Amino acid sequence: MQKILDAILAGELGEVGHLPVPEFYRGVVLHADETTMFDGLASRDKDPRRSLHLDEVATPKPAAGEVLVAVMASGINHNTVWSSIFEPIPTFGFLSRYGRTSPQAARHDLPYHVLGSDLSGVVLRCGAGVAGWSPGDEVVAHCLSVELDRPDGHSDTMLDPEQRIWGFETNFGGLAELALVKANQLMPKPRHLTWEEAAASGLVNSTAYRQLVSANGARVKQGDTVLIWGASGGLGSYATQLALNGGAIPVCVVSSPQKAEACRRMGAELVIDRSADGYRFWKDEQTQDPREWRRFGARIRELTGGDDPDIVFEHPGRETFGASVYVARRGGTIVTCASTSGYQHAYDNRYLWMNLKRIIGTHFANYREAWEANRLIAKGKIHPTLSEAVPLERAAQAVYDVHHNLHQGKVGVLCLAPEGGLGVRDSTVRARHVSAINRFRTKPVSA
Ligand SMILES: NC(=O)c1ccc[n+]([C@@H]2O[C@H](COP(=O)([O-])OP(=O)(O)OC[C@H]3O[C@@H](n4cnc5c(N)ncnc54)[C@H](OP(=O)(O)O)[C@@H]3O)[C@@H](O)[C@H]2O)c1
Repeated sequence: MQKILDAILAGELGEVGHLPVPEFYRGVVLHADETTMFDGLASRDKDPRRSLHLDEVATPKPAAGEVLVAVMASGINHNTVWSSIFEPIPTFGFLSRYGRTSPQAARHDLPYHVLGSDLSGVVLRCGAGVAGWSPGDEVVAHCLSVELDRPDGHSDTMLDPEQRIWGFETNFGGLAELALVKANQLMPKPRHLTWEEAAASGLVNSTAYRQLVSANGARVKQGDTVLIWGASGGLGSYATQLALNGGAIPVCVVSSPQKAEACRRMGAELVIDRSADGYRFWKDEQTQDPREWRRFGARIRELTGGDDPDIVFEHPGRETFGASVYVARRGGTIVTCASTSGYQHAYDNRYLWMNLKRIIGTHFANYREAWEANRLIAKGKIHPTLSEAVPLERAAQAVYDVHHNLHQGKVGVLCLAPEGGLGVRDSTVRARHVSAINRFRTKPVSA
């Protein structure tokens, strides 16, 4: 592994295809025999530091259409939180179901699961039939894994019946020194970014792009008012930038003055601190409080000068969904990709149908949407929202921090990269954007 790393650090990228690939590599894994370890505990008491292990695992060989990547950096996504606490179900069920679909997929069905759905790194080996990518290419990977053997996915690959999220529903993910991806997950690494900055955006930026911008999502347009929950978190920090970049007006909801400040640094002017305002949308487990919806709606109007949101960018789920449906404008859209606080939503349907509102469900992004989202990063129109980067040994702690909402933006992970700050290939473009790239930094990169 050291020889591969030395070649990458020396910029001798043509060499890496000739160097031997190690038989084993280190990765952040779950163990199949530990999936019941948190039984009986409340979600918040399930500690990812107990379930996540940094193990040596066997290196898979790239099969047809696959690529083995030397991972320089990765990032923490909320899906690794779900995997690590075995909610809503243990991910080993995904692996065994996938394993039954083909001999190639059977390699994923193992008693351990290497997690992680983002990476930046260098292509080491390409399987048969891979065109357009070669050993030595500097890449990022999006996390859509598809088979496309049936017609359903050929207009929008997210509709493939065998659609999976790499590193969550498949094995050999990015929180590791090596990773196995399909060649059609690869995209060029933005040249002005460090490894850890380049690895930060893929999953959340692509998801936010489809959810907010794409014709498959809410199709935001200039002047739209967009209510963005969790606006300084992973998805929200990209949704805020995408709204601003497209001429829309974000109304950012966060839970602390520091997070409000992060939104302002992105250029958002309208920010609601939900903790300071003390909204309680639920009176008890069963009953919502429409007075609180109205109070929230009035606060939005106060900030916007009377406008209701054309689009509500939803992901907190149960806790906020009733309010989201209520505050959307007549004819407006609630677009949702998640249910962090609970997936059994309740809302008053009268506000939906009488006011001709729409709810759109959305999930990750197809290759084209991910490519377009990555291109915005490469062009310096959207910037990574990396707050810190930790070494692989501290990944479990970082997952714990995201589980407890202690983070801002994205938390990066240094995999093979021996320190932060490496991998920049275009310093001129970087110099133009460096203050925007750093606006989420709360801690220096630790090696
Ligand atoms: N379907 C997909 O393709 C897809 C893709 C990415 C993520 N997701 C899911 O989307 C969710 C968010 O992901 P993320 O990466 O943005 O996570 P994140 O970085 O943890 O950010 C989520 C933000 O949501 C806010 N939030 C959390 N609980 C809330 C509540 N009860 N009420 C209001 N706001 C709340 C928090 O902001 P404040 O505390 O500042 O308000 C937090 O910063 C996760 O469940 C994730 O699994 C789905």
